[in-house]
Amino acid sequence: MTLPSDLTATTAALLAPGKGLLAADESFPTIGKRFDAIGISSTEENRRAYRELLFTTPGLNEFISGVILFDETMRQKIGDVSMPEFLARNGMVPGIKVDGGTEALPGSKAEKITKGLDGLPHRLAEYRRLGARFTKWRAVITIGDDLPSVTCIDANADALARFARLSQEAGLVPIVEPEVLMDGNHTLARCEEVTNTVLKNVFVTLFEHRVTLDSLLLKTGMVLPGKDSPHEATLDEVAEATVRCLRDAVPSGVPGIVFLSGGQSDIAATERLNAICQHEDLPWKLSFSYGRALQDAALKTWHGQSAHVAAAQGALHHRAACNSLAVQGKYSVEAEHAAV
Ligand code: 13P
Repeated sequence: MTLPSDLTATTAALLAPGKGLLAADESFPTIGKRFDAIGISSTEENRRAYRELLFTTPGLNEFISGVILFDETMRQKIGDVSMPEFLARNGMVPGIKVDGGTEALPGSKAEKITKGLDGLPHRLAEYRRLGARFTKWRAVITIGDDLPSVTCIDANADALARFARLSQEAGLVPIVEPEVLMDGNHTLARCEEVTNTVLKNVFVTLFEHRVTLDSLLLKTGMVLPGKDSPHEATLDEVAEATVRCLRDAVPSGVPGIVFLSGGQSDIAATERLNAICQHEDLPWKLSFSYGRALQDAALKTWHGQSAHVAAAQGALHHRAACNSLAVQGKYSVEAEHAAV
């Protein structure tokens, strides 16, 4: 694949029908947690070997249009080919997480602001030279008794908009990700209300910063009850609340919305995506940009053993195939249990 040359071509490539994104952009602390869970030490070579396993999965490009990388991975190689070049040669657009993680929001005990605007134009230019064609910035919003605060919503929207504008100026399609966390015991309705408020605020701020809507993707969570909520929501309830919220808050000029998995089980993330994508007449394309929900089974299967690489790749291929069906509203129990 020749890398897309401009924002429009990149957006179209990322939103190829039936395909979604693989988020493999875990920062050092996050990949450390994932490796700890399976007893592997987070060395540079282990991280490289794991990302090589993911990206060399045979047939991955049937379901994956783009891969979000972390800074270190951008500079690592598969054989003598750089990771971004390897992805591009195999028909997947390389992208890069450019935020610097979160820190405490000044004046707040529980809320976070995302770092990374200092020096960003310089880093963006370098990433484009290294082959990236899109970027991601994640803001986190916590739901609690008096949370989120207006200050937190505003500060994060401002950073997202500045990131998005700078990315577009650098020839990179921004993925704007305001993640409303699943932590807490809030209801589905409360998640919908907060997600709606956050998204509206983000889009007003994007407009103020003259961000071009047709050259960005929104990455958001589904509308779900908090993970400690005593109430379970049905697939239909989740799909209806999510679609209602997005219709109300996301301008129709946005070309695509991709969902994060946010700590849902991998199968739940596929089932809910399928239910959401069965809704018709939506103005934007919908797809996935999953980290854990694509990688969990592969990571557990691999367990750091080279003898397990093929089985781990089979697990990733299967999840990617199921999510591809879900994007088309065609996922089923039979597809889930089909031979890997
Ligand atoms: P999860 O799907 O694991 O939530 O990760 C997606 C992501 O990129 C978070 O920024």
